[in-house]
Amino acid sequence: MDRKNEILRELVLARDYVSGQELCRKLGVSRTAVWKCISRLREEGYVIEAVTNRGYRLRESGDGPLDRRSLEGALDTLWAGHPLIYKEETGSTNEDIFRLAEQGAGEGTLVVTGRQRAGRGRRGRTWLSPSDGNVYMSILLRPRIRADQAPMITLVMALAVWEAAREIRPVPGREVSFGIKWPNDIVASEGGGPWKKVCGILTEMRLEEADIRDIVVGIGLNVNQKVFSEEISGTASSFGLAAGRPLDRSLLTAAVWKRFEKNYALFLEAGSLAPLKETYEKALVNRGRTCRVLDPQAPFTGTALGINDRGELIVAPEEGGSPVAVGSGEISVRGVEGYI
Ligand code: ATP
Ligand code: BTN
Repeated sequence: MDRKNEILRELVLARDYVSGQELCRKLGVSRTAVWKCISRLREEGYVIEAVTNRGYRLRESGDGPLDRRSLEGALDTLWAGHPLIYKEETGSTNEDIFRLAEQGAGEGTLVVTGRQRAGRGRRGRTWLSPSDGNVYMSILLRPRIRADQAPMITLVMALAVWEAAREIRPVPGREVSFGIKWPNDIVASEGGGPWKKVCGILTEMRLEEADIRDIVVGIGLNVNQKVFSEEISGTASSFGLAAGRPLDRSLLTAAVWKRFEKNYALFLEAGSLAPLKETYEKALVNRGRTCRVLDPQAPFTGTALGINDRGELIVAPEEGGSPVAVGSGEISVRGVEGYI
């Protein structure tokens, strides 16, 4: 590891100020050499504070508090997260948003919490939501689209989370990849190891006749959780665990919404995922892999090729015949030997 990365490593691990003197001693170099490395790291975009008599500290090196102030300070969006409602604990943020929508809340209203008592996943499954360094949040949307276009929003959101995840800097020397398991899971793999789920997305919609009344997109980000209950320990992980260091939850949250605003605008303009398809497919870990399509009527095995403009997974059946477009609604896709 070169000297600059060694210094970065010290700062990341310290999660606090490290004196220049200590860095000199640990690395066996002069103060000028340390200063030069700090300057180079800053040029690379690391925010390093220097305080007389205390030393250097890497910002965003650890999990800060998750509260209204830190979230509002980090959020850099036009409408997503305005207003922002922070709750220390709640039942389900998706439920909270539906309640607020009924009271007339506007598009962009965001509820964020650090613990849910009744977090839910797709199809009535449970989303485990302990108070363990994670973020659970939901946003209210009122797009003027047809109801059959709404499931695409899940993919728009997944792409935003993946783009934010790609900005995470792991501890130097650690190799981490992030991907999307179609349609709604963000997964991480460390050092070429198995893909594990670090984020789930649940889009729910209420209709008025055939029109959309409101849509809630809920996101569970496992940010700094280290230990998982037995039922999910084989398939679940967290962004921080993958990166090898605790992450700042407010900064990650803000990064997600910044990207969502951009992707959502492109989606609305096109009325489809056409402008996002190429990037989504880069993130798609199912691509080129054999998968089992658990269609209750006609399950089959095939190779996932990519998605179409509607966000359906295109699967070439191993039996032959033309590729099939699989919609996310009632169908699960699994790897033949496991989760992916
Ligand atoms: P599919 O919807 O395609 O069947 P899936 O198995 O990922 O995929 P989802 O409904 O998307 O199912 O996600 C819910 C599942 O996620 C739960 O059944 C559980 O296995 C897992 N899970 C629950 N809580 C967490 C969590 N905090 N972190 C990671 N995984 C979790
Ligand atoms: C899934 O993968 O099944 C989707 C999980 C979605 C979980 C989030 S956490 C915030 C929001 N509130 C909920 O009750 N669920 C979603």
